Amino acid sequence: MIVGVPKEIKDNEARVGVTPAGVKALTEAGHTVLIETQAGALSGFSDDEYQHAGAEIVGDAGCAWGKADLVVKVKEPIEKEYVYFREGLVLFTYLHLAPLPGLTDKLLEARVAGIAYETVRDGNGNLPLLMPMSEVAGRMSVQVGASYLEKERGGRGILLGGVPGVPPAHVAILGGGVVGTNAARIALGFGAKTTLIDVNLNRLRELDDIFGGRLYTLASNSYNIAHVTREADLVIGGVLIPGATAPKIVTRAMVSQMKKGAVIVDVAIDQGGCVETARPTSHSNPSFVVDGVVHYCVTNMPGAVPHTSTLALTNATFPYLLRIANLGARQALAADPGLAEGLNTWDGRLTHRGVAESQHREWTSAAKVIG
Ligand SMILES: NC(=O)c1ccc[n+]([C@@H]2O[C@H](COP(=O)([O-])OP(=O)(O)OC[C@H]3O[C@@H](n4cnc5c(N)ncnc54)[C@H](O)[C@@H]3O)[C@@H](O)[C@H]2O)c1
Repeated sequence: MIVGVPKEIKDNEARVGVTPAGVKALTEAGHTVLIETQAGALSGFSDDEYQHAGAEIVGDAGCAWGKADLVVKVKEPIEKEYVYFREGLVLFTYLHLAPLPGLTDKLLEARVAGIAYETVRDGNGNLPLLMPMSEVAGRMSVQVGASYLEKERGGRGILLGGVPGVPPAHVAILGGGVVGTNAARIALGFGAKTTLIDVNLNRLRELDDIFGGRLYTLASNSYNIAHVTREADLVIGGVLIPGATAPKIVTRAMVSQMKKGAVIVDVAIDQGGCVETARPTSHSNPSFVVDGVVHYCVTNMPGAVPHTSTLALTNATFPYLLRIANLGARQALAADPGLAEGLNTWDGRLTHRGVAESQHREWTSAAKVIG
């Protein structure tokens, strides 16, 4: 197969769909890999490294898309890229089609086979191609929060771990899923006093076991949330109700009771945020202040660490990519029902129930279309 890897052109997107290690494995398996020049540069991978691993470097996006049977990306295509859609093309990337009827139309019209990272499931029903980005964002949230707690960035001038004779900062983490657990690991590593709140008591039990009692756990209710946010120097939002807008469990009134110069990192902002005063921001203008509290609400946090994020993402996506390349899309989808859940469009038909329901369209199951 010919595998094409175009350079990402969405604003502030520095990740790339395949690393040099991926190129090596694909070429060893007999495939041809076309990398658009500079596609990996912002993630720390040069054209030379790709070439050395066996890739052919092509000068423009038209070649990377146009000559490939299978295109691998990171973000959903933006309008400028729609011109490359054509019948027979297999596209493997984040698609996020539910809120994008325009992109859905274009994929269907051009009869592209669109396999979306975010809907692929593993044998346990988890979303293995979403998880690495939550790991990155969870770990990064503490690092970012520590930096904003410094005086010159608007914070209250407190060192997360304290020093002998001076108590550490208090970090409050809302939600004990992938983001929350990774945030807890880093906050405890820094030596901060760390409290984690979740509605799921079994999850709190597991975390209590994992962190051996160093982590304070609390059941989620408005009394506990008000108490903990009032005490906290850094609040991290990592709450998720799958498929739904995040519940605003930290109200405006609670924010007004927080310490001046405290910091909120609302990681859940991509689902609307779990803090009432949060609104989406970008890497070019990441923070703002409400009631003396610094808010950091970047919707694509992993984009700030593209080298780590590209490696974490491709570690998860690559085994699927190799199977699609080796078997062909139809056979790879037929062999793995979890991968088939990733199929969103096929030969002009919408094949994902969630996307269809949110866009009020008809759909056909992946199993039926691939036969
Ligand atoms: N901003 C970014 O760049 C970025 C990056 C990655 C992930 N995210 C987002 O971070 C959020 C969390 O992701 P995740 O992978 O950790 O999800 P997850 O499903 O692993 O964890 C969510 C947790 O929230 C808990 N929860 C639900 N309702 C709650 C409530 N009322 N009070 C307390 N806890 C509650 C759940 O029990 C669960 O443990 C998602 O919205 C995800 O999209 C954002």
